[in-house]
Amino acid sequence: MNDIKVGLIGFGNIGAGVVKLLQENADLIRGKVGTGIVLKRIADLDITTDRGVTVPPECLTTDVNAIFNDPEISVVIELVGGYEPAKTFVLKAIENGKHIVTANKALLALHGEEIYAAAARKNVEVQFEASVGGGIPVLSAIKGNMAANRFGSVIGIMNGTCNYILTRMTQEGADFSDVLAAAQELGYAEPDPTFDIEGVDTAHKLAILASLCFGTRIDFKDIHTEGISRISGLDVKFAADFGYRIKLLAIGKHSNGQVEARVHPTMIPLHNPLADVNGVFNAIRLTGDFVGPVMFYGRGAGQNPTASAIAGDLIGLSRSMMAGAGRRMSPLGYLDGEIKTLSV
Ligand code: HSE
Repeated sequence: MNDIKVGLIGFGNIGAGVVKLLQENADLIRGKVGTGIVLKRIADLDITTDRGVTVPPECLTTDVNAIFNDPEISVVIELVGGYEPAKTFVLKAIENGKHIVTANKALLALHGEEIYAAAARKNVEVQFEASVGGGIPVLSAIKGNMAANRFGSVIGIMNGTCNYILTRMTQEGADFSDVLAAAQELGYAEPDPTFDIEGVDTAHKLAILASLCFGTRIDFKDIHTEGISRISGLDVKFAADFGYRIKLLAIGKHSNGQVEARVHPTMIPLHNPLADVNGVFNAIRLTGDFVGPVMFYGRGAGQNPTASAIAGDLIGLSRSMMAGAGRRMSPLGYLDGEIKTLSV
């Protein structure tokens, strides 16, 4: 089979990571997929800034239509982030029969239904492992090896920026705004960091996770959301004096046909493993009725871990293209029509 040709929209920090990974591990990926995965076009408004990777000039374009209208490109990676123009780009790519790989949790939390429905109509897939937990393969596990379980809860630390800030405030007594600037510098924070520090990014991720786990549609706006912007150095110190660490937790529970979903800073006793999740690391604990509790831990943000998740999605899509399209599952891992609506 010919190489799988891919278009990338959004050539920022994460996009550069994807380019680097696909270049450095090209042979390994070819061996695992049975064909090459080739980034044919990269679209961004800014194609002159040095991203630290070498890309043939003919690959770069400021015109997204060069990707949408290229019949050779079968997969589009959307790394624009935010709601618009990302939504327009994704719907246009789907309309043109392209599979989608995205890291955009904001987009999926708000417009997932519309996007999944459009993809189902065109019989293309939407993959989004990088949208939750950075490099942690938690969505694949929920949709795959853990799919036989009814999930009772999904709880965790899901924002690397907030965890990095809280960790440095706890360990070094660092100042909130200095550490936020460092998290931005390290490429952890969203373009609008208020999404991180006000808990919005975590609520986006919880909406996606809870929808997957509980087989329902969780409206992001129904999730009670509080961030960490009002946590002071004194709060962190008092918590430590009493044997606790403050963490921004996402909590989703399902029982008796009801879903509970909330995001807020929480005092975690030191003996709880979540208290020891530090820096950019995320931890997500799922409880399934047969498997019991399972905990995922890894880097929740940053260029390389996020690129790893995106490339994993690309490999999965490429393998299914190689195998030929069968009956497609909905992006939430259910056969069409089997997703319930529960109240939050
Ligand atoms: N801003 C996000 C975070 C990026 O800090 O977790 C990864 O989703």
